Amino acid sequence: MSNLISYKDISISLSGRLILSIDQLAIPFRQCTLLTGRNGSGKTTLLKIMSGLLKPDSAHIAYQGLNLSWRQAKPYIQKDIIYLHQQPYLFDSTVFNNIAYGLYRNGENKTSVHKKVNQALEWANLSHLAHQPANSLSGGEKQRVALTRARILSQSLLLLDEPTASMDSESKQQTSLLLQRLNAEGLTIIISSHESHTVSHLIDRHLHLENGRMTEINNASQNNKVTPFKTTKNTLTNE
Ligand SMILES: Nc1ncnc2c1ncn2[C@@H]1O[C@H](COP(=O)(O)OP(=O)(O)OP(=O)(O)O)[C@@H](O)[C@H]1O
Ligand SMILES: [Mg+2]
Repeated sequence: MSNLISYKDISISLSGRLILSIDQLAIPFRQCTLLTGRNGSGKTTLLKIMSGLLKPDSAHIAYQGLNLSWRQAKPYIQKDIIYLHQQPYLFDSTVFNNIAYGLYRNGENKTSVHKKVNQALEWANLSHLAHQPANSLSGGEKQRVALTRARILSQSLLLLDEPTASMDSESKQQTSLLLQRLNAEGLTIIISSHESHTVSHLIDRHLHLENGRMTEINNASQNNKVTPFKTTKNTLTNE
């Protein structure tokens, strides 16, 4: 299977302590990966490095046929990879404007922007919130606006940091449904979560962080909560 992106020799120390040391991490196109690990195991740190937000001590990246240092890759990955915090940042404006912003920045005209944003809001079942101030939304609604924004900007890899933490069960269900549809439309997704059961039906593979190292947990040894996977192929390496 070909990879969307591969990372090699990721390492970072913070305050003199080694947090991550990962030899190989390949992300196949269209797969949905669950990332687990105890509190403080480095999940957020890894997702931020992968999305170009946090500079590691070292990391090499193979992307779009290029072999790049993290610094060289940063502009590409910041454009194509989105990191979504549990409480995504939204501008102090309406839901509509939050989704439209990136399209205007890409130079699209008003007619095209309005058409796309309205379609996207409908797709996400958020049309009723279009003119509501984004800052007045619930956590679950904010998360769904951010997912809609990611879809409309055609980003290729979505990194979700604890997307369903502190959501009620209905919000979890709605978020999980949107993620399923985004994945079916071709988006590659990584979800860091302590609640693997919420996203179990989406997951192709399960990576686990412990003592700074990454292991792939395969189906056979997997806790029942996150089975069945869509695939069990070993995709940690660049095969
Ligand atoms: N700026 C920093 N300076 C020093 N240590 C840091 C810094 N940022 C993170 N750390 C440490 O790095 C380790 C990994 O943190 P990280 O937030 O990536 O863990 P996590 O797996 O996301 O945890 P959680 O499940 O609680 O979200 C933690 O021990 C944390 O204290
Ligand atoms: Mg975290």
